[in-house]
Amino acid sequence: MSAAKRAFLTALINIFVLLFASIIQIQRIDALPHAQTVNGATATAAKTATSAAIALTKAQQRREPVRMVNKQTNERVNKDVGGGGGEDSSVNSKRLPRSVFHVRWNPNEKFVVESRENPAINSSRLAPHPRLKVSKNTKLTLSPKLYLCHDKYSELCHNKTLAFRQRIVQTLEKSMREGDNETNPYNVDYKPVFGDSFEEQYYPSTCLVMEAGVRVLRRRDAPFNKLPFGRLFPRQKLFRNVKSVKTCAIVSSAGSLVGSKLGRFIDTHDIVMRFNHAPTQGYEVDVGSKTTIRVVNSQVVTKPEFDFPHAPIFRNVTIAAWDPGKYNGTLEDWLTSADYDLFTNYEIYRRRYPKSRAFLIDPHSVWRLWQSLQMFAGNRPIRRNPPSSGFIGLALLLPYCSQVDFVEYMPSTRLNGRCHYYSKEMNSACTFGSWHPLAAEKLMALDMNVADDMSVFQFGILRIRQPDKLLCGFNFFGY
Ligand SMILES: *[C@@H]1O[C@H](CO)[C@@H](O)[C@H](O)[C@H]1NC(C)=O
Ligand SMILES: *[C@@H]1O[C@H](CO)[C@@H](O)[C@H](O)[C@H]1NC(C)=O
Ligand SMILES: *[C@@H]1O[C@H](CO)[C@@H](O)[C@H](O)[C@H]1NC(C)=O
Ligand SMILES: *[C@@H]1O[C@H](CO)[C@@H](O)[C@H](O)[C@H]1NC(C)=O
Ligand SMILES: *[C@@H]1O[C@H](CO)[C@@H](O)[C@H](O)[C@H]1NC(C)=O
Repeated sequence: MSAAKRAFLTALINIFVLLFASIIQIQRIDALPHAQTVNGATATAAKTATSAAIALTKAQQRREPVRMVNKQTNERVNKDVGGGGGEDSSVNSKRLPRSVFHVRWNPNEKFVVESRENPAINSSRLAPHPRLKVSKNTKLTLSPKLYLCHDKYSELCHNKTLAFRQRIVQTLEKSMREGDNETNPYNVDYKPVFGDSFEEQYYPSTCLVMEAGVRVLRRRDAPFNKLPFGRLFPRQKLFRNVKSVKTCAIVSSAGSLVGSKLGRFIDTHDIVMRFNHAPTQGYEVDVGSKTTIRVVNSQVVTKPEFDFPHAPIFRNVTIAAWDPGKYNGTLEDWLTSADYDLFTNYEIYRRRYPKSRAFLIDPHSVWRLWQSLQMFAGNRPIRRNPPSSGFIGLALLLPYCSQVDFVEYMPSTRLNGRCHYYSKEMNSACTFGSWHPLAAEKLMALDMNVADDMSVFQFGILRIRQPDKLLCGFNFFGY
């Protein structure tokens, strides 16, 4: 189908969806004030009705390349300074928080729990993660063992799980509030543009993630269709036999995977995604042995200690490597100004193994995902650094899988303060975030989750379902 034809069809469909949605919306309007419950059924119904209605505006704003979004934002900011500058903030202040930020704290429970707790981990003596500063304020002060239980049917276990959930959400929120007063190395000049409509908060998070359209670069993409470098990209698609894919697992590298015995569960999935050089050998019982795809950041591709072009761990597996480039940069700029020059080793690897499936992730799509996160967070500013590999991996995988099980991304009661299951490094910033907008990512993931609290916080499995295209208002054609 030609581009014009497709655009016309999409517009037509959108008009029908809009009509349909406004009819439903009128009927649903009394339901909205009651729809605040976390993961509530009413919320879902209201989401369905209103999401389609805002689809058009969102699509228009989103389809613009990163450059254009900046331009629009700048114009808007300038306008605000010149004219009704107060308008924006007054609208923002009226906004209701999203449901995931709405978890109520039970003051009695807090009292009881706090009085029995000892700080479990003191991270101040430990070697820092290369990209994470040890954060003073997100030091882990809860003792997860107090909340550990497995009897799904006992009331005590239910209470413990709920209390743990509240502690985790509270810690993530705190981490989000810790402002980022640091420099802005990626020149992110995006200001939240949405957040002034009350429908906005009912727009499903899964749709926001899908719309970001996180993708790998293909040979036909400009400017690579004209550059010799583009001929290095594989001709194959990212995954083989996607039609037969039903379930996918994303295995975080979290330290709390130690002792989880989730290996067999992980290996039952059709696609298993892992990150960087996270090993399976020697850890099979906890993390499984199957790997379909590895998402690797540009540091791992570049730094000699990882030996990307030769190390067996990067062989016979699909690779999706990413580097954020600059927020306002073009793809040509990216080739000369990547954070870490991953191109050299990528070229060596691809020349050495021409049949390999090693792809580069479109850096613009990484920043679109960042925008989705910022939209989810509404008027709360998130860190102006790219999302973590885990979140990028989720966005890359979701279009292929009807269901994604994200293992130990939300910290479970196995939480032990370790950064990775394969290293001894301790730093709670690895779990609660300080360099990536990790806290916002995890709150968003929890908002997308369909599994019960027991699965998430006791067994460490968060489940995310691919949203229905109708639910999202046909927004993710395109990229
Ligand atoms: C953590 O360790 C540091 C260095 O040993 C010490 O100064 C600090 O008091 C400890 N903090 C806690 C909460 O124990
Ligand atoms: C669980 O929590 C409820 C409500 O806070 C309380 O009434 C109940 O006694 C608790 N049950 C147990 C077994 O702790
Ligand atoms: C960031 O800067 C603002 C104003 O300059 C200040 O009020 C705030 O406390 C700072 N936040 C942190 C976490 O340092
Ligand atoms: C990758 O697969 C090829 C062909 O099946 C095999 O010869 C090679 O040993 C494998 N390499 C690794 C590191 O597993
Ligand atoms: C991106 O923004 C930075 C800082 O505002 C500016 O110095 C740079 O020239 C911009 N780059 C492009 C390609 O627009």
